[in-house]
Amino acid sequence: MPSEVFCETARLLFRAPVPADARAIFERYAADPEVTRYMSWPCHASVADTEAFVAFSEAEWRRWPAGPLLAFSRETGQLLGSAGLVMESLDRSATGYVFARDAWGQGYATEALGAMVDLAAELNVVRLSAMCHTDHRASYRVMEKCGFTREGVLPRHLVFPNLSPEPQDVFSYARSLV
Ligand SMILES: CC(C)(COP(=O)(O)OP(=O)(O)OC[C@H]1O[C@@H](n2cnc3c(N)ncnc32)[C@H](O)[C@@H]1OP(=O)(O)O)[C@@H](O)C(=O)NCCC(=O)NCCS
Repeated sequence: MPSEVFCETARLLFRAPVPADARAIFERYAADPEVTRYMSWPCHASVADTEAFVAFSEAEWRRWPAGPLLAFSRETGQLLGSAGLVMESLDRSATGYVFARDAWGQGYATEALGAMVDLAAELNVVRLSAMCHTDHRASYRVMEKCGFTREGVLPRHLVFPNLSPEPQDVFSYARSLV
């Protein structure tokens, strides 16, 4: 079981990544081309890429009251994926989620995003936002199930490096917390 649990749900335990997690993150999801298809970061080519993510995460946690979180199965202790808050200021935050392929379709992302909403509310965040590619139905369904509102389309807003070098249209979603 992971130590220093930061928050939890019925089936998931969340904690901040540490350097010893890099190989598991790499093997479970960060190096999987299907998992990373709609991510805003390149599919990891080596564990060094994952170590760079952990270093980024540690810097976020030093600076802000929250940052990236790993999601573990409460039942088995297995690493299932990641969620977290990207603090843009002390009262505005963005969020996201990524799960290993064998964890898809079981409601984990919806459970994880619900936990991020609760965490953001505890931290007095007033606006929690998230973006996804306009083709990514599974992701925007998760946001809608968690009470996020589609605020609009941002045309050619973001490069998805595993899809194309061309900026793509994204849906901008957000949820007000107070
Ligand atoms: C997107 C992702 C997080 C969804 O995780 P999940 O745990 O399977 O999500 P949930 O089970 O909570 O809910 C998924 C919803 O999308 C739907 N869905 C799942 N796969 C789908 C697909 N291929 N096409 C359309 N809808 C899909 C599900 O039916 C469900 O909606 P419903 O309740 O209306 O039926 C997961 O597929 C993933 O990690 N993908 C790779 C990383 C990623 O793209 N992250 C988001 C970046 S914005």
